[in-house]
Amino acid sequence: MYRTHTCGELRLADVNKEVTLAGWVQTVRKFGSITFVDLRDRYGITQLLFNENLNAQLDENPLGREFVLQAKGKVNERSSKNANIPTGEIEILVSEFSVLNKAVTPPFTIQDDTDGGDDLRMKYRFLDLRRNTVKKNLELRYSVNRSARNYLHENNFMDIETPFLIKSTPEGARDFVVPSRMNAGQFYALPQSPQTFKQLLMVSGYDRYYQIVKCFRDEDLRADRQPEFTQIDCEMSFVQQEDILNMFEGLIKRIFKDVKGIDYTETVERMSWEDAMWQYGNDKPDIRFGMKLCNLKFPAHTFPTKESISSLIDGANFQVFDGAETVIAIAVPGCSEYTRKQTDELTEWVKRPQIGMKGLVFIKCNADGTYKSSADKFYSEEKLKAIAEAADAKAGDLILILAGAEERTRKATSDLRMYMGDKLGLRKADDFKLLWVLDFPLFEYAEEENRWVARHHPFTSPKPDHIEVMINNNPVIENAAEYLKHPYANIKANAYDMVLNGNEIGGGSIRIFQRELQEKMFEALGMDATEQQHKFGFLLGAFEYGAPPHGGLAFGFDRLCAILGGSESIRDFIAFPKNNSGRDVMLDAPSTIDDKQLVELSIKLDVK
Ligand code: AMO
Repeated sequence: MYRTHTCGELRLADVNKEVTLAGWVQTVRKFGSITFVDLRDRYGITQLLFNENLNAQLDENPLGREFVLQAKGKVNERSSKNANIPTGEIEILVSEFSVLNKAVTPPFTIQDDTDGGDDLRMKYRFLDLRRNTVKKNLELRYSVNRSARNYLHENNFMDIETPFLIKSTPEGARDFVVPSRMNAGQFYALPQSPQTFKQLLMVSGYDRYYQIVKCFRDEDLRADRQPEFTQIDCEMSFVQQEDILNMFEGLIKRIFKDVKGIDYTETVERMSWEDAMWQYGNDKPDIRFGMKLCNLKFPAHTFPTKESISSLIDGANFQVFDGAETVIAIAVPGCSEYTRKQTDELTEWVKRPQIGMKGLVFIKCNADGTYKSSADKFYSEEKLKAIAEAADAKAGDLILILAGAEERTRKATSDLRMYMGDKLGLRKADDFKLLWVLDFPLFEYAEEENRWVARHHPFTSPKPDHIEVMINNNPVIENAAEYLKHPYANIKANAYDMVLNGNEIGGGSIRIFQRELQEKMFEALGMDATEQQHKFGFLLGAFEYGAPPHGGLAFGFDRLCAILGGSESIRDFIAFPKNNSGRDVMLDAPSTIDDKQLVELSIKLDVK
């Protein structure tokens, strides 16, 4: 037997027991004739004490960091206790030991605060995974996994695997493709999600399906995106949107309870997509704090139902506002005393290429009820007061105003709001707030191709009242500049996203389940009958054999874990992630393949 206990297990109650431990050498400290070794395994660290009897052996075979060691001895109460670790009251008086394997010096220290940079840690990820911080993340991931499975199982969901070697499923990204040796010149695509399979399973009668499953998308990477990532993918039959929202609100609340011990009893807030864009400039707003957008000016067609308050800024001859399509303000609480240096710093921040604004206008709402603005010359105190009131600013607040083209300005204001939220400590990692965003547009305009694309995916159903508009109008966009006036721009989808602290953690929809409507949808996306048949004939065909009404959603499993673990980066929660260029630096993949393999696959390369 290699071990009787783990390195995290022994306590004062075990004193005098004869035990054997096995693990990795964390540190070796020599004090005259005695040596202390911290032995580490997945469960913790236990101190080993080697007395003078073993010194000769130790001198002969010195222990190094990360050696794999087995040690036998008696549990002893420590004279100087370490309150920081659970085993800190005991140590093992070693009587025998054996080095099970040596280790070369690791390229970075295996500690919580390591000296290893990102690249080095990824190259030696198997060592990085020994670190407690990374291990904690993987443990959290596993507990989210277990919690989700338990909840779904209790609710009659069945885990059914779907294939990875498939035909393209459109989720808006590029496909990873796999050449087929047996079918020369032909390729499989790796699934961007199991979307069409889970719908087929509904046609087959498996009315509650789930899978914790890998998805593959060849897209530009960010902190919250990986080329292969995991979804908790779910689908249900005979449901309406409300059923789905309730079921999966339940799932996420269960995960909060099981993983974080949080009783999230409040009902999850709901917001329409339009309100999210209007009030937060973003379809995944962080609603833990206010600082809502005050839309001083905007093009009427973007928010047809909202009234303009541009009279507050019009007629002042202020070119920055007059010449802009959109002007948006936010009131930052308690910052009216920002210095010149601080407002300059914010101006520089919005001018960075990632934000792309030309400048920033501010109004200080002083504590004494007066106003001071960088646009003083153009606006009277009275006007500034009226703007402050519209922006819901209080005495002591700092109003920040951005002006420019609609899309960019809205996004920039949203980014600025988040930046200020971070700066003021309003976005605490352990404060969780869920939100459903509903009523998304069904279509999105693709400028380069001057056509409609599905905002979610092509299997999403329109709101029942909007089906007529879709059927009775020609999808062709005659006037690209005025695409927002096309009837399709206002068609809303039966789609929903779940947002946690400003991150989209999941999304789904009620699906189209009639062949005719699905064909109309494909047609709206510019697919003729031949292309429809070639790409989705299997699904259209299946819809003719008794497809039930159905809908579902998928959670981004890695994202959910990262947020629950208080991190922005999903990589920290994936055992073997890719870097930002999509490379596995440990395996050095992707890499070239042998000529022989290429020949077998009937592939000729054209790479400079
Ligand atoms: P969607 O494309 O919205 O929906 O994806 C669902 C969730 O998956 C997460 N996600 C990602 N996580 C990490 N890296 C990525 N590259 C990545 N892309 C997406 C997000 C997102 O909310 N088939 C539909 C679901 C459905 O309609 O049922 C789908 O895949 O958290």
